[in-house]
Amino acid sequence: MRLASFSTFLIINELCSAYKILLVFPVPGRSHAILGEGYVRHLLNDGHEVTYITPIMMKMEHPRLRQIDISSDFKLMPPDELFDTKNILMNTWNVKNIEFMLFVTTEFVNGTLGHPNVQRLINDTSEQFDAVIVEWLYSELYAGFASVFECPLIWSSSLDPHWLVLDLIDEVPNPAYNPQHLADVVTPLDFWNRAQELWHVIHTKYFKWRLRHRENRIYNNAFASSVALRGRDLPPFNEVRYNGSLMLGNSHLSAGTSISLPPNYIPIGGYHITDNIDPLPSNLQQVADNARNGFIYFSMGSMLKSSRIPDIIKKGLLDVFSKLKQTVIWKFEEDLLDRPKNVHIVSWAPQWSILAHPNCKLFITHGGLLSILETLHFGVPIIGVPMFGDQHMNINRVVEKGFGMRVDLNDDVVVNMEIAIKEILDNPRYTQKVKEYSFVYHDRATSPGKELTHWVSHVIRTKGALHLRSQANMLPWYQKLYLDLAIVMFLIFYLSVKIVFKIFRGILLMSIKCAASKQKVN
Ligand SMILES: *[C@@H]1O[C@H](CO)[C@@H](O)[C@H](O)[C@H]1NC(C)=O
Repeated sequence: MRLASFSTFLIINELCSAYKILLVFPVPGRSHAILGEGYVRHLLNDGHEVTYITPIMMKMEHPRLRQIDISSDFKLMPPDELFDTKNILMNTWNVKNIEFMLFVTTEFVNGTLGHPNVQRLINDTSEQFDAVIVEWLYSELYAGFASVFECPLIWSSSLDPHWLVLDLIDEVPNPAYNPQHLADVVTPLDFWNRAQELWHVIHTKYFKWRLRHRENRIYNNAFASSVALRGRDLPPFNEVRYNGSLMLGNSHLSAGTSISLPPNYIPIGGYHITDNIDPLPSNLQQVADNARNGFIYFSMGSMLKSSRIPDIIKKGLLDVFSKLKQTVIWKFEEDLLDRPKNVHIVSWAPQWSILAHPNCKLFITHGGLLSILETLHFGVPIIGVPMFGDQHMNINRVVEKGFGMRVDLNDDVVVNMEIAIKEILDNPRYTQKVKEYSFVYHDRATSPGKELTHWVSHVIRTKGALHLRSQANMLPWYQKLYLDLAIVMFLIFYLSVKIVFKIFRGILLMSIKCAASKQKVN
């Protein structure tokens, strides 16, 4: 009897700690899907029920997983056109421009929110969630999901913490030593860079302010009717935008810089890598095992197709590779003619399994944060060829830490690549450094996946974790900068000067009058 009631207790307890979670990862890109799928995996393992809004459906079936297909989003944000290698080479490219990013993503979010599958979900009043997890990408409009379902909002940030996301839960960090994520600078910043960083914050804030009407319209169009169906009023967007309970960041100090963070920012960088790494497919296993002098893994990620690299560069690189003792595994969408014997082309590459192979000596990458974290996870030095987004910043940090080199994509890319490959393969200090930072990466109190599930449950169990909220978030900016005090001080100073001046003038006039009347008497 006792045992029965005890097990009922256990079962009830188990049921109570299983939550319904809505995961919103709408960006049509492989790396964003990898981040979303990491959440799905950890939350399912922790016993929760997951509804996953995604443009890239997972092949997996699971009784507690429901996927909402928004694959038509690919038409709204065509990655091949946005991230074209030729445009980067010719410098005719504007993804570095923050105004462009804000504008494009706002329209993209508008399209996603209007998607019939999304509208069906939010207009169904029988749907309920305990928390909403949203990937931040240049827009906060998805915060409205939390208003619809009256549940806590959790942000997922895919980059090293930067001012645009910290502003949502705390405040803008000092731009003098916290450069924006799209900057291509090294710290400490010089005078000109510091001025530029400050200007960037002011100018971006201004642009966001100008976007406010458009954002409010999109927000109301998307969410007002479904909130009304539930018999409530939609709270103002600006309140919801700053009402996130928690931010889970795909970052770790081993890859980023040490900056002060609010208590509701939790770094979980590396959570996307599974504990068990799949074995290599047999053809690759053979290539890797037989590479007696080790092998180089070359992959420019998923957004950039290597087939868009100009022919002359492809030829030059093949020429450089042909002179090496090492084998090269190149992830490329097409086979290349005149391919040297030591170069192997694979159209699909299990990146983790390749990096985990003991013969992997060097990784040539665009330097996306996922690749950097993976390189730290497996301890392989890198050559970074930064292309867009935060990649310049990531690679600059790697160079500063000493576990890789940077080669820019320009007319000299082939020459510089040859120099960098020789340096990293011949000089053991890069491998030593990557092992040191790999230790920093692994030496944590809990695994990033455990951290993720713990904090999501914590927010739900404490009904929005209000105790974690930063005070900085509650104060208007002019009060933080003491501008009100400055005005009061200025007024006091101004009035004092004026009074003193008046008194002196009075005394002076009086003494002149006195002197004049004395003269008259005389
Ligand atoms: C802010 O979040 C808390 C905790 O999730 C919630 O109770 C509150 O209703 C939210 N406020 C608004 C305006 O959305």
